[in-house]
Amino acid sequence: MTVPTRARQRAADLRAQLNQHNYHYYVLDDPIVSDTEYDRLLRELQNLEASYKELVTADSPTQRVGAEPLSYFKEVKHKVPMLSLSNAFDENEVITFDRRIRERIDVDVVEYVAEPKVDGLAISLLYERGVLVRGATRGDGMTGEDVTQNVKTIRSIPLRLLGNRHPRLIEVRGEVFMTHQGFIALNKRQSSAGLKEFVNPRNAAAGSLRQLDPKLTAERPLRMFCYALGDVDARHLPESQFELLQQLSVWGLAVSPLAQLVKGVEQCLAYYRKMVAQRTSLAYPIDGIVYKVNSLSLQKSLGAVSRAPRWALAHKFPAQEETTVVKAIEVQVGRTGAITPVARLEPVFVGGVTVSNATLHNRAEIERLDLRVGDTVVVRRAGDVIPEVVTVVKKRRPRTTKRFKFPIRCPVCHSDIVYEGGEGIIARCSGGLYCSAQRKEHLKHFASRKAMDIDGLGDKIIDQLVEVGMVQDIADLYSLTVTQLAGLDRLADKSAQNLVDALERSKQTTLRRFLFALGISQVGETTAGQLADHYGSLESIMNATEDDLQSLTDIGPIVATNIFTFFCQSHNKQVISKLRRRGVKWPETEPIQRNSSKLPLSGKTIVLTGTLDAMARNEAKTRLQDLGAKVTGSVSSNTDYVIVGAEPGSKATKAEQLGVEMLDEKQFMKLLAKLESP
Ligand code: IVH
Repeated sequence: MTVPTRARQRAADLRAQLNQHNYHYYVLDDPIVSDTEYDRLLRELQNLEASYKELVTADSPTQRVGAEPLSYFKEVKHKVPMLSLSNAFDENEVITFDRRIRERIDVDVVEYVAEPKVDGLAISLLYERGVLVRGATRGDGMTGEDVTQNVKTIRSIPLRLLGNRHPRLIEVRGEVFMTHQGFIALNKRQSSAGLKEFVNPRNAAAGSLRQLDPKLTAERPLRMFCYALGDVDARHLPESQFELLQQLSVWGLAVSPLAQLVKGVEQCLAYYRKMVAQRTSLAYPIDGIVYKVNSLSLQKSLGAVSRAPRWALAHKFPAQEETTVVKAIEVQVGRTGAITPVARLEPVFVGGVTVSNATLHNRAEIERLDLRVGDTVVVRRAGDVIPEVVTVVKKRRPRTTKRFKFPIRCPVCHSDIVYEGGEGIIARCSGGLYCSAQRKEHLKHFASRKAMDIDGLGDKIIDQLVEVGMVQDIADLYSLTVTQLAGLDRLADKSAQNLVDALERSKQTTLRRFLFALGISQVGETTAGQLADHYGSLESIMNATEDDLQSLTDIGPIVATNIFTFFCQSHNKQVISKLRRRGVKWPETEPIQRNSSKLPLSGKTIVLTGTLDAMARNEAKTRLQDLGAKVTGSVSSNTDYVIVGAEPGSKATKAEQLGVEMLDEKQFMKLLAKLESP
């Protein structure tokens, strides 16, 4: 069938447009048309190609996922070997690398390009007259696998280079990788489909590219950054690595936006340090920095030794993942009784420090990993986060391991463990302060700097005090004597005296510190400060109703209940009076006088319900309080007004029943406008 010229032209035009859009969307991450517009153009091209088979070209955007599944990958011989890089693990090795280059080429300062070393897999793309004809893995550097049909599914790889007058033949090399987000989403899909999860983004990227069915690869969130050339047949080529990156970008290939020209080894190291700091905030994994001599002719004269070029160096970051063996699984009891399982590990150097414990988060996590004592595991420590177990290397599991049984009793006080939170994920010891582990944590919190600030009362001493039974509750701290303390391990007479002095000094405190030190669930420093300012005295706080407590900006129903319940417990009241008897004191202050009778809403009690368009509830609360109103959490016959936003709760119904005056958002805004104007 002859193809009408109009159809031929239209198809070419559509292809060019779609390639442009693709580039803006996937490479620049800055789309210039809507998804619907893109789909419309693509569908038009698909229809044209369906009518005239001759119009289908290898580089047509319709051909990204067309290919049939393969039964195996063909071999590809790399004309120019795909080299690997020499590694440096510290700054001195980088300094040596730079010195050797300077000696060989006899210059004072070498210009380098510093690029992130993206943690994916190296891929070669072959373009003939601008059209992608082959994609191959690195393999052993000499022979790789033909993964053309898979590479074509990666949207940031152009099927045709942008612009024109392309080299007759050009092989572009770079790294195919997966973003952290893409990796997490993929693993979620894998797990809900009952499939195996991937260990890390690099394995996921490699596994995805080695799918025989390109439809599977197409579903994987792969990307690519290009950084080098292989075999080329071209008239003009850039003269430096930096210009090469710019040229690749002009052709529509994605390059790392973080590559930088640097002069001399000092700037190399400065770049490295900057990237170490940025590393965890990048969207994709990088495992080091690659320094490359910028001038391509210098690169050529420096040449390569064995498998690695002399002109480039990979300066590795400290590994964030290592394998080690689990020696034991134990559970820890926190201040509020929360039980956290931890893995005790054969010590291993990871993320720049030696790690011998990793958190296992909760019972569900142990079950998910099926972690057992004796297992070999991959541990991860990224940035300052607590080390965690990523996976269990099941292949290396000894034959005798047993499934871990989560305890049903607290390992410390043997009280029952109760479960709370969604799906019973949070395990908690029900022993309260009867549990010595909770008591220890409670004492540590009480003594801490932002609480009672008891200098010299460290964790080790507290552990001993509880273990030998010298201290049952926080008030007991204040009856300790020098003689008693001097009997403890690692506490000389002098330190014992210092500690007694510190305890004495800490007695003179402030109400906000004291409240924080009590360790009421969810009462942090800020809330403690607000309570102290608002009520002025401990008695007023202890006598406050839940409703009253909720009139504070930061206190919602849960925290109000926590505070109220805390002060209802007789043992808490006893400890508080014991503390006061032993001399703990603070200046009482006048409650902050909001309800001064001069303010327009003083004496009025107001309740807010539903959401307001114009402001968050907290803002509404503060503005009303500034006008002298008392803002409470529930409606009663004492309530003067209820302000009703969108989707109000039962408070509106109650107000109606009690006949309390209700204001909608509009009326409320009017009221504010009137009262707030000077
Ligand atoms: S240059 C001869 N640049 O690191 C030059 N490699 O350890 C060879 N890699 O196989 C590679 N980011 O898979 C180069 N910006 C980058 C890189 C990079 C990641 C990988 C690549 C290579 C391996 C060598």
